[in-house]
Amino acid sequence: MSDKVKVTIDGITVEVEPGISILNAARQIGGDVVPPAMCYYSKLEGSGGKCRTCLVKVSKGSEKDPRPMPKLVASCRTNVMDGMEVQNITSPEVVEARKGVVEILLINHPLDCPICDQAGECHLQDLAFEHGSEATRYEFERRTFDRIDIGDKIQLHMTRCILCYRCVYTADQITNNRVHGVLGRGDASEISTYIEKAIDNDFSGNVIDVCPVGALTDRTFRFKNRVWFTKPVDAHRDCPTCSGKVTLWYKGADVLRVTARKDQFGEAEEFICNTCRFDTKQTGDWVIEGPRNISNNSVISANHYETLRPLPVVQNNALLQEANKEQFERATKF
Ligand code: SF4
Ligand code: FES
Repeated sequence: MSDKVKVTIDGITVEVEPGISILNAARQIGGDVVPPAMCYYSKLEGSGGKCRTCLVKVSKGSEKDPRPMPKLVASCRTNVMDGMEVQNITSPEVVEARKGVVEILLINHPLDCPICDQAGECHLQDLAFEHGSEATRYEFERRTFDRIDIGDKIQLHMTRCILCYRCVYTADQITNNRVHGVLGRGDASEISTYIEKAIDNDFSGNVIDVCPVGALTDRTFRFKNRVWFTKPVDAHRDCPTCSGKVTLWYKGADVLRVTARKDQFGEAEEFICNTCRFDTKQTGDWVIEGPRNISNNSVISANHYETLRPLPVVQNNALLQEANKEQFERATKF
């Protein structure tokens, strides 16, 4: 007897390991079925449950107890049950609720995409594009903060922060002491001075990669270019501190920035050290592997590169291929 459980998401059934979250089950299907996740990060223990962008509707709890769950649930924090049925984009209620979440996230987040380094690879920008409304109903004063330099390489724009806690978990899980965190509560919450202490750590630059918005940016790349004008290239070096596997972002012959390699969910495949990120920006420092595969739905792709291949679970399943047909067609159009 298989020890896997069956879960159906937006009409597509997959068999997954018991105990995984609905979000991770959806990621095994891939495509538009995957709920957006602004705070969950598979490499960060304890992450998730903060932003509510991953809300879904559980229309059938399980085979044993088919009652639907009374409220929408955070898919990153709700585990699958055998026979569970979930609705994501097929539920108007979910789409409406997500629109509300985007509205809340945008209450304090400035619309400064034209000058923000994260534009083009910002998850909130994508979400606002997909679900946002053109006007806000908010009439009160917004939170504002001064910019803080976290060391000479990282800048914190607290005004843009959505309090997803990813940087806190990153700093927490790469240092031995807990010297950072979110200070204050409610609308006074902020990522604050504690996190500045993480700058002594070789891996502190990873807070830039995990930040889903432009709140933590790379000062060495600041205002250098728009990401869609740069070309991502995979490269590696023999690094004593990390795996040395990175993506170099080129403009002409210059390496403008170095980041971790991101997977199709926007997560770093492996965290990289600060020497690789900030101090090795000459092509000669690296062994070049070739162009980074970027989904050609992404603004970064800018028609340069081939797309990511569909996940194996989709490739081997005719039903899933049919369900993702439109996505395949988009993905293979050059
Ligand atoms: S600074 Fe970025 S990563 Fe940190 S909590 Fe704010 S949005 Fe999240
Ligand atoms: S990704 Fe699930 S609550 Fe943020």
